[in-house]
Amino acid sequence: MIIVVGHEKGGVGKSMLAVNLAWRIRQEGASVMLVDTDSTGTSSGWYAIRQAHGVEPQIPVIKAPDNPGPVIVDLAGKYDAVIIDVGARDYGKLGQLARVVDFWLAPTQVSQGDLDSTLGLHAAVRATDKFHKNGRVPFYVVLNRTPSGWNSSEDQDAREYLEELAPGIEILRTGLKDRKSWRDVGKTGKSLFELPRRDAVKAVEEFEDVYQEIVERLEAKAAVQ
Ligand SMILES: Nc1ncnc2c1ncn2[C@@H]1O[C@H](COP(=O)(O)OP(=O)(O)OP(=O)(O)O)[C@@H](O)[C@H]1O
Ligand SMILES: [Mg+2]
Repeated sequence: MIIVVGHEKGGVGKSMLAVNLAWRIRQEGASVMLVDTDSTGTSSGWYAIRQAHGVEPQIPVIKAPDNPGPVIVDLAGKYDAVIIDVGARDYGKLGQLARVVDFWLAPTQVSQGDLDSTLGLHAAVRATDKFHKNGRVPFYVVLNRTPSGWNSSEDQDAREYLEELAPGIEILRTGLKDRKSWRDVGKTGKSLFELPRRDAVKAVEEFEDVYQEIVERLEAKAAVQ
């Protein structure tokens, strides 16, 4: 299974989502390889901190070559899940990966620039549908770093904006709110689930909802194939 966490926009939360997704899937007993295509190497940095602190289980991370398609397909034959953190400037790699991906998670924040960039990415992905084995790239947006105030409507406003301008765009039902725990993940080399529970409880709940929806959608797809 090949999962891409990718967006052309920088700083939207790709790396933090990729490492937590890898950890969560590993938790099911599956074998997982995390692939870092990003020259800034955030996932690799997370792994280095994790290794230095001796946190178990270790989750292997490799740097992807410039031409990642064949390597990824090869890895998918060896691991239950291959999670690919695709850097913001790796547009060419996204195009290659669109052909082989089983689930593409595109985190976006709710600022106007991020939403417009997500619309552009969605249009570019739809243009590659014909190259995917199912005729449609499984592309899903997750709203990230949405304001945590109970009365904020920005999550809903962002959904309506995307759905109006890109009919048929698929947005995961749970948005991930802005929580400090996500920053702690990068600092500690731990997953959200390994942080002190009292600090991370809300971030864990939200991420778990996102994870369960990913599983549901993958299972639904497998059932029709
Ligand atoms: N839901 C969230 N709440 C709070 N902070 C978050 C959240 N998601 C991500 N962050 C923080 O935002 C910053 C950017 O996240 P991350 O490095 O995962 O983004 P990225 O898309 O991989 O960036 P780049 O394009 O530079 O690779 C990090 O400091 C991360 O901890
Ligand atoms: Mg990154």
